Amino acid sequence: MRMIHPILSALALGMAAPLVAQTAPAAAPAAAPAPAPAAFTLPALPYAPDALEPAIDAQTMTIHHGKHHQAYVDNLNKAVAADAALKGMNLEQLVARAGTLPAAVRNSAGGHWNHGFFWKTMAPPAQAGIASPALAKAITAQFGSMDQFKAAFKAAGTARFGSGWVWLIVKPDGKLAITSTANQDNPLMDVAEDKGMPILGNDMWEHAYYLKYQNRRADYLDGWWLVVNWGEVSRRFAAASKR
Ligand SMILES: [Fe+2]
Repeated sequence: MRMIHPILSALALGMAAPLVAQTAPAAAPAAAPAPAPAAFTLPALPYAPDALEPAIDAQTMTIHHGKHHQAYVDNLNKAVAADAALKGMNLEQLVARAGTLPAAVRNSAGGHWNHGFFWKTMAPPAQAGIASPALAKAITAQFGSMDQFKAAFKAAGTARFGSGWVWLIVKPDGKLAITSTANQDNPLMDVAEDKGMPILGNDMWEHAYYLKYQNRRADYLDGWWLVVNWGEVSRRFAAASKR
């Protein structure tokens, strides 16, 4: 191994070389401040990208999570960093005042919240489970039966023009309702026509289904029930009903 003289080595590294004795130790250079951690980060998928097949294919999940959701997170961090008025606000606070925010912040904050909610709304088919007795009872009371609820949810999803979301929410009066929102809006936003706590939501953007279903959004909505995480939806219903 080639030996390098320590002084040459120090010079090569741009360090002060100890050529002369120093009378006083030089002040240590101030450490460069560590970059501030990003305020918002992409959550890991709670299952493997291929775990939702055959309802949703692995390639769609990989791109949807790693590219689309990541872009909402990155754009949100950029927008918040550039606007002192938004500093320190958490995601829920941003979503709640979406109507007062620039479009870029509203879209990015909604996109981040909606997708984080969406990944947890789903589970591999073997773990999808069933609705709790309390949720099943509420669905039957509001929609007539589980099948009628699914049909109404599908109708709302297919009727959403362009990109958006379809939701099952618990309204402030405690009743269930199906609603849909455009773009990356959601029912927690001050701008939502139907406000409430989402307990179930499906992504009506083409990026959620186009690779497998192409233009057949209705088929995607039908296939999606296979991977709805009813345990999680039931927990959300119980929490929203207690509020
Ligand atoms: Fe999406």
